[in-house]
Amino acid sequence: MVAQRVRTVEISGIRRMFEAAPPNSVNLGLGEPDFEPPAEVVEAMCAAVRDGMNHYGPSAGLVALRDKVAERYRDRDRRTTRENVIITGSGSEALMVTALALYDPGSEVLVPNPGFVLYGPDARLVGATPVPYSLTPRRRYWPDFEELERLVTPRTRAIVVNSPSNPTGGLFPSGTVDRIVDFADRHHLTIVSDEVYDEIVYDGPFASFWGRTDRVVIVNSFSKTLAMTGWRIGFLVAPRALAADLNKMHYHIMACPPTPAQVAVLAGLANGHTAIRAMVAEFAARRDLVVRGLRRIPGVAVVPPAGAFYAFPSFSWPRSSQEVAEALLKRGVITTPGDAFGSLGAGHLRLSFAASRANLERGLDILRAYATEEATA
Ligand SMILES: Cc1ncc(COP(=O)(O)O)c(C=O)c1O
Repeated sequence: MVAQRVRTVEISGIRRMFEAAPPNSVNLGLGEPDFEPPAEVVEAMCAAVRDGMNHYGPSAGLVALRDKVAERYRDRDRRTTRENVIITGSGSEALMVTALALYDPGSEVLVPNPGFVLYGPDARLVGATPVPYSLTPRRRYWPDFEELERLVTPRTRAIVVNSPSNPTGGLFPSGTVDRIVDFADRHHLTIVSDEVYDEIVYDGPFASFWGRTDRVVIVNSFSKTLAMTGWRIGFLVAPRALAADLNKMHYHIMACPPTPAQVAVLAGLANGHTAIRAMVAEFAARRDLVVRGLRRIPGVAVVPPAGAFYAFPSFSWPRSSQEVAEALLKRGVITTPGDAFGSLGAGHLRLSFAASRANLERGLDILRAYATEEATA
């Protein structure tokens, strides 16, 4: 007999759907950059492995890397030091560590709807209840504060925020960040801010939650910025006492983050800026291409994504997002049904622009042809 909690979560069925795609399909379903890590980072990884950096390291991560991350966060709060930073084995692990450290059985946690797929399940796995709050295109995917006030109860422990957002591409302006901080402070909530797309921003500036309140945990990752999703390396930034508690949970999950990947990331943070800038510039060009293309398709509307690498168009056809995604799959383009990210993702598709411009054009052509069929059906 397995524990009850196993039944509270499911593995997403989306992958299985992708496997049914015809050969040569255009893949607009990817949740990771279609780039390789910067060359100097790859070199540093190979050298680290060759030079014997293949052993356990400190649980909270290599001091040099924690110092480097702290330095980067000092523009948000001058007092940031390595004591605030825990290197993790990915943003996903950082999210689970946060759930373990913050939520009790019976706690409620405000989570975005639509939002990244792990927030709700992580809460459930520790016995807490996720309470979805709405993000709608009408409000440019910014929270509705009146709704937040209605959803909060004495059991609410935290609010999870994600700007820039997967799947919506929404980006909170500084004023919205301040209002969320004020809301959380008034209700004694901790803000769990998932900032994994903080460097992939088109209509900035990006506004971090770090440095605005003492009740915050920043979840971040090197996966997207350094195009190293398979290396599994991320980090947490939190007030010192909380960071020590997060580290205790992290130690019990994975003892320490991977040593060679940390050495390689250090090289990336020192020298990878040009490659990161080039990747973000390419994403920006693709964002424009996708928004222009979607605006020419009847029955489709889109709020231009301000960050991350996803567009989240809505469609007006009387079909579920699963049905539309399946119809597109048969025609040779892989998309993600919007309701995979929560009930308010119904009537939407997520299109990733981690695909070449040529493939994005092909994908948009297929979507346009399908829209024409729907219009004449
Ligand atoms: C919003 C968001 N948070 C966290 C993650 C987790 O990233 P990783 O576990 O690769 O660091 C992802 C990955 O898709 C994401 O989109």
